[in-house]
Amino acid sequence: MDRGSAMRDPEPRSIQRETLVDVHGVPLFSSTLEKWAPLWSFKARPDDLLICTYPKAGTTWLQEIVEMVQSGGDPQKCARAPIYKRIPFIEIVHPLLAGLEDAEAMPSPRTLKTHLPAQLVPPSFWEQNCKIIYVARNAKDNAVSYFHFHRMDQEMPEPGTWDEFLENFMAGKVAWGSWSDHVKGWWEAKDRHPILYLFYEDMKEDLTREIRKVAHFLDKELPEAVLNRIVEHTTFDNMKANPMANYDTIPPSVMDPAVSTFMRKGIVGDWKEHFTVAQSEHLDEVCARELRGHGLNFRMEL
Ligand code: A3P
Repeated sequence: MDRGSAMRDPEPRSIQRETLVDVHGVPLFSSTLEKWAPLWSFKARPDDLLICTYPKAGTTWLQEIVEMVQSGGDPQKCARAPIYKRIPFIEIVHPLLAGLEDAEAMPSPRTLKTHLPAQLVPPSFWEQNCKIIYVARNAKDNAVSYFHFHRMDQEMPEPGTWDEFLENFMAGKVAWGSWSDHVKGWWEAKDRHPILYLFYEDMKEDLTREIRKVAHFLDKELPEAVLNRIVEHTTFDNMKANPMANYDTIPPSVMDPAVSTFMRKGIVGDWKEHFTVAQSEHLDEVCARELRGHGLNFRMEL
């Protein structure tokens, strides 16, 4: 029996690649558009916490950190179910993943997940002044991670070759749209809303420091021993080995670990293995142009 198969979710009846449609200028899954009305009128509650990211920026990592912080460092609480069932992903419509209806049925306080750009987040999150934590990751590593995710997740749109995927990524023609619009939009939103804006590279550099920021933002006092336990629980190696955090419970017909694992490398600078010099320079130019004047700086290596 292969690793994790005993507790794996059943295969969904049909596995099809998602198609992208334009939703107010942002390419999203057509299944999201079909449920747009209930999503837009979703009733956030004042004590909701929203975890927001561009896809593959470190969402799962932050989700596990938040769950550990909120539970006072209790790994048993995090072991109650796979991460994608513990924290509803509000715009996703999928038989295996908790979504909008699960969020509605969930008792407070809720932690919810989205990849939506700031302008498409349901208005009640702003009206209720909900706390939001955002993680941003440098565009190059983010693009590489997203490419491999498209390869392994049989429900993502067909990625094509790396060169083709990168062109689409730079043009914002991938699911959830332009990386630079996303990181910029949330960066601006933090000036008018309670948003903790984190960087993947900072988390890699000093996880203890960044978890302290999360705890402070959530008004949680963590004794040093608890903090250390959370750091240990959320290292890449430990999350990769944790079936409740590593997506191994998703059937391989959906996420194929033979192609690439969900917990793939978890490093800063893997882009160097993928980008040509010309591609790297081109993305540098795109980022410089699109982020100019925003005071947003990304580290490409540590
Ligand atoms: P790589 O593909 O570069 O390895 P998301 O959760 O937003 O889908 O992001 C997934 C990316 O975050 C993957 O990046 C994954 O390996 C990385 N990741 C997940 N948990 C991590 C951890 N504890 N430490 C470092 N990186 C982590």
